[in-house]
Amino acid sequence: MKSIQSNIKKAKKYLDKNQCVAVPTETVYGLAGNAYSGLSVKKIFKLKKRPMNNPLIVHYFDINKLKKDCHISDNFIKLYEKFCPGPITFILKLKPKSKISKLVTNKQKSLAVRFPKHPIFRKLLKSLSYPLAAPSANISTGLSSVQASDVIEEFGSKIKYVLNGGKCRIGVESTIINLLKKPTILRFGGLDISKIQKVLKKKVLIKTNLKNKIAPGQFPLHYSPGIPLRTNVKKPKKNEAFVLIKKRKTSFKNYYYLSKKNDLQQSAKNLYSLLRTIKKDGYKLIAIEKIPNKGIGKTINDRLSRASKY
Ligand code: TXA
Ligand code: MG
Repeated sequence: MKSIQSNIKKAKKYLDKNQCVAVPTETVYGLAGNAYSGLSVKKIFKLKKRPMNNPLIVHYFDINKLKKDCHISDNFIKLYEKFCPGPITFILKLKPKSKISKLVTNKQKSLAVRFPKHPIFRKLLKSLSYPLAAPSANISTGLSSVQASDVIEEFGSKIKYVLNGGKCRIGVESTIINLLKKPTILRFGGLDISKIQKVLKKKVLIKTNLKNKIAPGQFPLHYSPGIPLRTNVKKPKKNEAFVLIKKRKTSFKNYYYLSKKNDLQQSAKNLYSLLRTIKKDGYKLIAIEKIPNKGIGKTINDRLSRASKY
């Protein structure tokens, strides 16, 4: 307990000096910096090798801290009350007087905001006088990090500090909903869309493959382990690693399990780390069995389809 407090203090010290630190969230690790400081935000883009036109998500402790920066709507309040803190990101209208660095939004008038649930990250956010811009802690287009060792694998000594919060509980990124007009899902994620629809009492639009300006992050290649990957595979080829979600009677050396019980939640949690392991084991090709396209399975399939554009 005491060491958690001192780790949070250490992270704060770096952040106060406009340095970037990696932070644990319930979805994936983030690479965080002061969202009000252009200097910090620039460092995030540079470390991640991320194109400057791809805006960042800003993380807040709660709605009170958000009010200075964004206009809030009825739909936002409904979803916030039900799901926050949690794995959902909202696109809201930025207030003209907000102190958010222009680099965060690529000068757009909207801001992506999120209220992460991880208790250590929440303690850190509470202790700061500014919100944190934080994209996923990985080099652009690669696999997100779900534990401290992944972050170190991605950035090595280039990153000043990793605030260790163990393995991420959900393992895939937040669901993104655009609330500027009709509620529209921009990215499948950790929160099931059916739950969102229940709260809003209506169907939401789904535009996860936009080619226009609003979601420049939805590039074709993303979440890639850096080797080719095939989906919906019944039988792997000889040299492929085979990724499964339920136990087979006979298992071979190249079989890797996301889950042994057809558990989609567990599969999401294991997805990125298993792909990392397969690559480290030396495979050059990955085959994945069909994943049911329901609940968080939709998010897994979305990530795999982008990763397979390699
Ligand atoms: O779970 C998550 O959301 C993680 C953790 C660290 O919070 N963060 C994350 O950030 O996944 P990132 O940067 O890897 O993905 C953010 C996505 C990008 O695709 C970006 O284009 C989109 O959000 N985005 C950011 N600001 C936006 C905006 N104003 N309008 C539309 N899309 C936006
Ligand atoms: Mg990312």
